[in-house]
Amino acid sequence: MATSKSQVHLPEPEYAQPDFNSRAHKAWYHPDISNRVPAAASHILISADLLNKYSRIPPDQQLEHIHKIRDQAWDIRVYPCIGIGAFLDPQLRLDPLYPTIIETLRNGGTLIDVGTFIGHDLRRLAYDGDIPTDKLYGIDIVDWEAVGYDFFRDKDTFQGTFIQADILSGSLAEVRGTDSAKQQALARLTEDKADVVFISQVLHQWDWEGQVHAASNLAAGFSKVGTLIMGNQMGTTQGAREVGLDALDGAKAWRHDAQSIARMFEEDVAARTGTKWEAQARVKTVEEMGWTQDDVKWLDPGVCWLEFAAKRVA
Ligand SMILES: C[S@@+](CC[C@H](N)C(=O)[O-])C[C@H]1O[C@@H](n2cnc3c(N)ncnc32)[C@H](O)[C@@H]1O
Repeated sequence: MATSKSQVHLPEPEYAQPDFNSRAHKAWYHPDISNRVPAAASHILISADLLNKYSRIPPDQQLEHIHKIRDQAWDIRVYPCIGIGAFLDPQLRLDPLYPTIIETLRNGGTLIDVGTFIGHDLRRLAYDGDIPTDKLYGIDIVDWEAVGYDFFRDKDTFQGTFIQADILSGSLAEVRGTDSAKQQALARLTEDKADVVFISQVLHQWDWEGQVHAASNLAAGFSKVGTLIMGNQMGTTQGAREVGLDALDGAKAWRHDAQSIARMFEEDVAARTGTKWEAQARVKTVEEMGWTQDDVKWLDPGVCWLEFAAKRVA
């Protein structure tokens, strides 16, 4: 089932590399993402309320603000979640474990959002949770910090830390950039470990072996007994397998089903890191996530969302 261990894995997908002429020709750039914005879609989680009360952006300026910052981000990387406006749905909030996570953070716990992008899940937590934000960390291979502050207008209030690092790199203690405070923060995290490691829409960019490698790095770098590694990604209802994504420039990715992603933690990550995990996952349909089959027709048939949680038990 697993692909060759000697395969080289790119830290970032080729299809997401900056492409300045791409607005006209990428299937996953939708010029108008107003339909993903609060008033038009009640399930949208970057709500008018959050932009209004947390970011202090008046309702009549929100659409322009969202499109402007989305295009700022698109000039840096051309991810589908940027192009179609999926980042407007911070996904942690949809997880049944969300209230437990908030409780953990209220009690002084630490959460790392891996592949944080503009830190939208962290801001949603800050808004919902009445929690100390200094225990929130965002890790990403790209430095999105300034774009995130532009979007949420909270540079003076948000106390979380954003660190630029590659989760595929051999040692997670390797910060990209020379900021010594960030280097110290990452070193501290790898020593103290985290209560929750959240990773949304990232692991699916790799094949089986790439996902095992990245997940094992997170387990070895940030987990202690009791840590939850949880998140979601695109999966399949048609049996776990590698798919070729023609629309994403021919990229190949491993599509998990609920069983295979749980097995990845309980068997592969466990064996590779000398740890023990209890994992579970569930399918969330395209419709349950507030999208239509038409929205995802450029992806593989049977594509769905997969929500997973793995708890380290030894
Ligand atoms: C598709 S976006 C998902 C953003 C967000 N987590 C969400 O669910 O909306 C993938 C994010 O992972 C980051 N990323 C990709 N490869 C990475 C790597 N090797 N290490 C750390 N972050 C990575 C990208 O820069 C991007 O911000």
